[in-house]
Amino acid sequence: MENISSRENFGSKFGIWAVAAGSAVGLGNIWRFPYLTGKNGGAAFIILYLFIVVFIGLSAMLCELAIGRRAQKNSFGAFKLLSPNGKWHYVGLLGVVASFMIFSFYSNVAGWTLEYIWQSVTGAFMGKSNQQLSQSFNLFIANGPRTIFWTLVFMLMTAFIVMSGITKGIEKYSKIMMPALFVIILILDIKALTLEGSNKGLEFLLYPDFSKITAGVVVDALGQAFFSLSLGMGVLITYGSYIGKKDNLGSTALSVSLTDTLVALLAGVMIFPAAFAFGIQADAGPGLAFISLPAIFQQMAGGQVFAFLFFVLLAIAALTSTISLLEVVVAYFVEELKMTRKKATLIAVASMSLLGILSSLSFGPLKEITLFGKTIFDLLEFTSSNLLLPIGGLFIVLFVGWFFTTKELQLELSNNGSLKARFFPVFLFIVKFIAPLAIILVFLNGLGLF
Ligand code: TRP
Repeated sequence: MENISSRENFGSKFGIWAVAAGSAVGLGNIWRFPYLTGKNGGAAFIILYLFIVVFIGLSAMLCELAIGRRAQKNSFGAFKLLSPNGKWHYVGLLGVVASFMIFSFYSNVAGWTLEYIWQSVTGAFMGKSNQQLSQSFNLFIANGPRTIFWTLVFMLMTAFIVMSGITKGIEKYSKIMMPALFVIILILDIKALTLEGSNKGLEFLLYPDFSKITAGVVVDALGQAFFSLSLGMGVLITYGSYIGKKDNLGSTALSVSLTDTLVALLAGVMIFPAAFAFGIQADAGPGLAFISLPAIFQQMAGGQVFAFLFFVLLAIAALTSTISLLEVVVAYFVEELKMTRKKATLIAVASMSLLGILSSLSFGPLKEITLFGKTIFDLLEFTSSNLLLPIGGLFIVLFVGWFFTTKELQLELSNNGSLKARFFPVFLFIVKFIAPLAIILVFLNGLGLF
């Protein structure tokens, strides 16, 4: 057994917030949330989403933080320690595998943001028609060498930060990147709201049309909440293990969920007014960020600067998320396979990059290689987000709800009785009953059985 005191802890409350909110805030907020909102009818979807975050997401997040801090270990080691004779450590292992897969395809999209930062510097999309923009995006993602190059650059940036350690790497850089992210998103929001014709976009965000809410939309919102809050894969177990015994887990979960939701909403406030002002479809789908937004930027005064800021924003958001994904794997390698942090990071990134390269190529040269009609990228996305994530999340809440003793859980959440933790009874009810049920529904929907 290694010495627990040799483990690094986060240095400050602000650091804990920056790191955990950094994981949560990502492409999921700025790219996925707006297009889901657009597709599912605006305000009504947002209200539903808020409801789910408050009543399910928050509790599920608290479960992960509690497991991690209780055990002071990586997600595999945590289950092994808390249930030495059980099979629960497979849940931890599942998280490691899922992080591996998400990291690979997520770095592809993150790499695209680097290409678009470059294009906004050179002014490549200025003066192009919507059709030309869509064409050049499709040509770019099919260009193997170019997308591989950016994927690898992004992975190396992530590796550099993770290799530098918990406080000197992950925490230090998150404390710079998260405030920068807020500054940029606020600048872009102000710009969007001052555009002529932006009112329609705000209306879309503010006036709910509940007739758009169907069972499928509810499940979409649940899945998005899980993805956006980084739940179900042991990211927050791993980060929870670096949280000191005196810190307040309840308020950490609250501030992280609030930040994540706020950034998603701010992304909506940035995108919809701009989209309506320039007559771009709000439900444009995944291409929204890389096709529709450049179309807007190049019609706008100062567009090149705003485009640059937007893609830097996306890249920062993605980077603070990829470091959390890589850390899950690295913490596992370091603690279970006894590697040094440097070696663990290099081996993890080298092997993930192979999958990342295959996944980049699946938009071009390897497009024809499919399984169940899905390309490599789609398979990685589908398997991790729709299968592994809900399965992991389900077992995590079941573990906390039914395996932990109530006493043990209460002690962990109240720092051995020094905090009041008044939310406890409600939390316990959600974790035992509501959350497992909700997750099973997401899962069945993800499989298309619902
Ligand atoms: N939450 C991130 C986003 O919104 C993505 C992410 C990072 C994630 N780590 C995760 C999703 C762990 C699920 C599990 O983009």
